[in-house]
Amino acid sequence: LQHLLTIEGLPCEVLTHILDTAASFLSISDREVKKVPLMRGKSVFNLFFENSTRTRTTFEIAAKRLSADVINLNIDASSASKGESLLDTIDNLRAMHADMFVVRHAQSGAPFLIAQHLNAHKQRYIHVVNAGDGRHAHPTQGLLDMFTIRHYKQDFSNLTVAIVGDVLHSRVARSDIHALKILGVPEVRVIGPRTLVSSHMEEMGIRLYTDMAQGLKDVDVIIMLRLQNERMNGALLPSAQEFFKNYGLTVERLAMAKPDAIVMHPGPMNRGVEIDSAVADGSQAVILSQVTYGIAVRMAVMSILAGN
Ligand code: CP
Repeated sequence: LQHLLTIEGLPCEVLTHILDTAASFLSISDREVKKVPLMRGKSVFNLFFENSTRTRTTFEIAAKRLSADVINLNIDASSASKGESLLDTIDNLRAMHADMFVVRHAQSGAPFLIAQHLNAHKQRYIHVVNAGDGRHAHPTQGLLDMFTIRHYKQDFSNLTVAIVGDVLHSRVARSDIHALKILGVPEVRVIGPRTLVSSHMEEMGIRLYTDMAQGLKDVDVIIMLRLQNERMNGALLPSAQEFFKNYGLTVERLAMAKPDAIVMHPGPMNRGVEIDSAVADGSQAVILSQVTYGIAVRMAVMSILAGN
């Protein structure tokens, strides 16, 4: 693997290898062991052209636990504001001996463009990790979601997973769906209003539901998504109250799933819109575990890309 740009098309063995490697890093990510020298002398550049709390921070922690040097480019204070192009920025950073770029960008495809540019310039020792591009993909979120599901449910072969909310604009949903399919989850459901669910999902073998009671019946895993207003371009939206009334995950609705169902959310959460606080802070929520596992999963991705 030279770059991690998307989960789509990756073999099951590669996903499993990343999850197994992440499991072997748990004691380091949990700080029982402080650091390993797997990326000593390597420079990881965090390039977040779009805001982030979890992804940027856990990439930084993960790189530091692997002993890499981490440079967080402050995009607002960078010369991108003076009109420097994305690829000129990349060329200047590779002149500083970058070994890895972790890229988040509002434009779908930006990390692909960077990877293509590096390959065209025969910079095959520089790696690109997609940390979320537009509404397209968020592969490390998909992987940490799979790690979390495997941790709580042991294996994928008997699960029913429901992804709820604004699936249309969600890069997390797309990466999760590809990963769940590759790992052999037999039933993946999407629940949401028709305006926020892509009809292409059915072609991918996903069952679509517009009704929460039907969609949540007997599911093992619920993945909640927020309304991604920043990607809706003024489309006619349900109000927050309307959305919560029809699709908000409340204690009553959670009771329609299996009694041991887990509740996930990639964050950031909008309490009272897609999820009620009683559920977000309840015993079935594993939302903060997802964040913690993100460190081990990102350590695994970076160390595998770096050739370990
Ligand atoms: N899940 C996720 O991508 O969160 P951030 O936007 O905070 O990185």
